[in-house]
Amino acid sequence: MFDKELVEKIRAAFPRAEKDFNGRKRVFFDNGTGTLVLKQAAEAEHDARINCSANIGGIFDESKQAMKIILEGRQSVADLLNAPSPETIISGESATSLVFNISYALGKEFTGKENVVATDYEHYTNVSPWEELREQGKIKEVRYARVNMEDGTIDLSHLNELIDENTKVVTITAASNFLGTRSPLEEIGKMAKRAGAYYFIDAVHQIMHGTVDVQKIDCDFLVFSTYKIFSSHGSFLYGKKEHLESLKPFKVKTAPTSAPGKYEWGTRNQAFFAAFSAVIDHLEWIGEEVQSNYEGKFTEYKGRKRLLKIAMDAVQQNEVGLSKAVLMGFEDVPGLLKIPGVTVYGLTDLERLSERAPTFSFEVEGISGEEVAKRLWEEGAIAARSGHFYSLAQDLHDKQKVVRISLVQYNTLEEVRTFLITLRKICII
Ligand SMILES: Cc1ncc(COP(=O)(O)O)c(C=O)c1O
Repeated sequence: MFDKELVEKIRAAFPRAEKDFNGRKRVFFDNGTGTLVLKQAAEAEHDARINCSANIGGIFDESKQAMKIILEGRQSVADLLNAPSPETIISGESATSLVFNISYALGKEFTGKENVVATDYEHYTNVSPWEELREQGKIKEVRYARVNMEDGTIDLSHLNELIDENTKVVTITAASNFLGTRSPLEEIGKMAKRAGAYYFIDAVHQIMHGTVDVQKIDCDFLVFSTYKIFSSHGSFLYGKKEHLESLKPFKVKTAPTSAPGKYEWGTRNQAFFAAFSAVIDHLEWIGEEVQSNYEGKFTEYKGRKRLLKIAMDAVQQNEVGLSKAVLMGFEDVPGLLKIPGVTVYGLTDLERLSERAPTFSFEVEGISGEEVAKRLWEEGAIAARSGHFYSLAQDLHDKQKVVRISLVQYNTLEEVRTFLITLRKICII
């Protein structure tokens, strides 16, 4: 896990990690819904707004600077994902808008006989755009691979069975925002490629928790949202160059004819790109802090790309430690698995914690999820969330009222302890 000093430095980079705007000390465990903002990101956004608020395309300095910031932002995303070039990076209003954007473009290629294969643990963002194609008669059906609810994993043989010669898209969430499970992306990618299908990944719930390499996964498209990784609302999508060139997205006639501009609806907000570059600078700094533990590792990457891989690997390992504490607790405080009346969904095998994000959905016998979340807040100042997280699996398995906590790099063991003590009190009374 991160040493104490590093955790403190990381927390210092987030103005609201310790206390909220009212000055109330609280534990922020609602990161799956949207993380806290990084100070550097908010400052970079502010500076770009003030200094280069002119739109791009002009010959004067503010406009040129705005263009530079946008290009640097795309390069930052490319470095994080190991994408080959900034031109393969598209920005959008949200992950949802980009999935619709690409699904509409793909729909123009289909004839009505095709199918899309997804899974039962998709976020509706990665369900509705494909179902929309079916409703419009562009494809015949959307098929869904089963989730094994005992351990929260996808039934891979079922997924493989669903893929046939008419499968044109295989799509999957990189990590479930309800169960926390990480999908075996490379393995599923091979299934998609065997069928000659496009491989589309929703990485919204993975991006803040671990490494992503679009070339290694060999995906055709990958989308994520920036407000889940310490920045402002918005999203990015990676697309393979040849697809970005050949597809015909909905666009206005005078917009650029090549990527990324071809896919972007309207001109861009330079401040958004500035904020994201600041997030990447922060992750690079984490990479520098921990790189001495990584001698001889990730040597296939160079420079900033390597530091980012190191940083996200270290984040993932730190989160395994946090997950273990959530489930098992401490010597004097029982974890979720040991508190009577608590049922936890998703992977709980301690040997397999690297296969999940530190996102835990659970229920307490006899107390509604809403009541548990309310009492966690009132009695322990713990920001958790209950209800529906737009996950298909919640509907299929009638789990619309669970409580969810989700941790990221600035959360601490001490916060896990506070959470567990409060939850135990709620369960006893
Ligand atoms: C896994 C997953 N996919 C997609 C989304 C939607 O992202 P956006 O709000 O950027 O459309 C979310 C949001 O919670 C999510 O968790």
